[in-house]
Amino acid sequence: MKPKNNNKRSKPAALRSQAWFDNPANADMTALYIERTMNFGLGFDELQSGRPIVGIAQTGSDIAPCNRHHLVLAERVREGIRDAGGIAFEFPIHPIQETCKRPTAALDRNLQYLSLVEVLYGYPLDGVVLTTGCDKTTPAQIMAAATVDIPAIALNAGPMLNGWFQGERTGSGTIVWRAREMMAAGEIGYQEFLKLVASSAPSTGHCNTMGTASTMNSLAEVLGMTLPGSAAIPAPYRDRQEMAYLTGKRIVEMVRENLKPSDILTRAAFENAIVVNSALGGSTNAPIHLNAIARHIGVALTTADWEKHGYKIPLIVNLQPAGEYLAEEYYRAGGVPAVVAELIAQGKIQPALTANGKTLIENCEGKFTSDRKVIFPYAKPMKKNAGFLNLRGNLFDSAIMKTSVITSEFHARYLENPKDPMAFEGTAIVFDGPEDYHRRIDDPKMKLGANSILCMRGVGPVGYPGAAEVVNMRAPDYLLKKGITALPCIGDGRQSGTSGSPSILNASPEAATGGGLALLETGDRVRIDLKKRTANMLVSEEELARRRAKLAAAGGYPYPPSQTPWQEIQRAVVDELSEGMVLKPAVKYQKIHAT
Ligand code: FES
Ligand code: MG
Repeated sequence: MKPKNNNKRSKPAALRSQAWFDNPANADMTALYIERTMNFGLGFDELQSGRPIVGIAQTGSDIAPCNRHHLVLAERVREGIRDAGGIAFEFPIHPIQETCKRPTAALDRNLQYLSLVEVLYGYPLDGVVLTTGCDKTTPAQIMAAATVDIPAIALNAGPMLNGWFQGERTGSGTIVWRAREMMAAGEIGYQEFLKLVASSAPSTGHCNTMGTASTMNSLAEVLGMTLPGSAAIPAPYRDRQEMAYLTGKRIVEMVRENLKPSDILTRAAFENAIVVNSALGGSTNAPIHLNAIARHIGVALTTADWEKHGYKIPLIVNLQPAGEYLAEEYYRAGGVPAVVAELIAQGKIQPALTANGKTLIENCEGKFTSDRKVIFPYAKPMKKNAGFLNLRGNLFDSAIMKTSVITSEFHARYLENPKDPMAFEGTAIVFDGPEDYHRRIDDPKMKLGANSILCMRGVGPVGYPGAAEVVNMRAPDYLLKKGITALPCIGDGRQSGTSGSPSILNASPEAATGGGLALLETGDRVRIDLKKRTANMLVSEEELARRRAKLAAAGGYPYPPSQTPWQEIQRAVVDELSEGMVLKPAVKYQKIHAT
């Protein structure tokens, strides 16, 4: 049976920009703004003609190389806007570059969100093109569009071409984790390490693996916030320039139709995105960012929804880090529409409205791939039950585990005990932040073994402002040399979407806000039971009460002082990772343009 299309749409409305440009009741302001916008050559007839004014939120700059290609693409977006009868206003927003911002780029997701909300609310814009790409730039801008709720469409910079080194594919980020193991094991030196990593970035564009960037842009397409087929087009391809033009044209029509984020970002759209994320082997950052977008549009979405709708979905996309290939093959194999077609055929996709005015099902039905090495059939997947598990216990209320990256080696060592299948116990080795980990991990006196569980705390949104991507901890060099390549990891921070570690992460509440990880001590036994979805320290209630009292007397779990004003402001109002790491006061402002 075909799913019913229940989508309701907003009615066409008067142009918002005319309150600035053609408003006799506020003649002073009208005149003042027209006077200045005329500086770049616009005349009365254009500004008062009822043409939609469309913003291009520019995230590309020299400081944000993953999105820098938008400086080129914006020209084509502009032409599309003009050809459809609109006027383009391009403006910069706070830059975010994943790979170099300290202490972590995630600190700035909410800052970019805030900066865009202020522009969209405060200036005469009828719609906006969001220039997405590098990890946090995609959720930050969609969150802002959700808050202000004016017509919005996303366009990503596109992934880089495939990286190659000595005949093998080298994928963004994923090669870093591999190369640092090789360096720790003494197989390569520092200069070779650098060359190996640089080989993964052969062109303009964002990460070419299914890391957080490709995940979030694929999910933006599934949510309906882009034109169909746009997420996977590699940055340098001519098709991407064409997509930029079509995106510019379409946003003008969306303004005329008054097609807004609140029409698109429905509960059905989020459930579709969760389903597709499992099929992609998507990033562990996706639940944080999607839950955040949902909170800003007013849809209740929890980490429990990720397990409920996503866990049983198989992995069908063979991209690094869960698989083998990279962005060029993903695009050639059909990208998001081909993946969604596979899921539609199984009745897993709901008919949610998208930016082109059609539903996701109308856009993708029948778009099956012809490359079965890259997009597997649903019935013969790369891995069954490939979504996230949502665990809880006395260590935290919620933490997720990405099952699609559990290797056969990890499975055999930890999950195949016939007396206790899908469960394991080990000894906690506790690290307070990445500096502590780096200082001690290779020290032979630590005497780590296959039975050790690496636990990282103090790296959540408050403890390490923005939440550090450090939970995927490599094993010590002396174990790597013995062939033990991965130890179980638990932590209250995040890990890169390009990492293939099956860590238990995004633990909430974090140690710094009173989570159970703050009570854990090195040497404690920890039990993980994936059947029961639990993670517990095997410590008596009396002992935990004693530790809790001692911690409270010391003033709680200690964390370093803020280094910038924004760190301090965000720490005071930020929510847990399971809640999307949103600014708590910001989620009160849903759909502010309507009021
Ligand atoms: Fe920017 Fe990966 S570092 S997209
Ligand atoms: Mg990242």
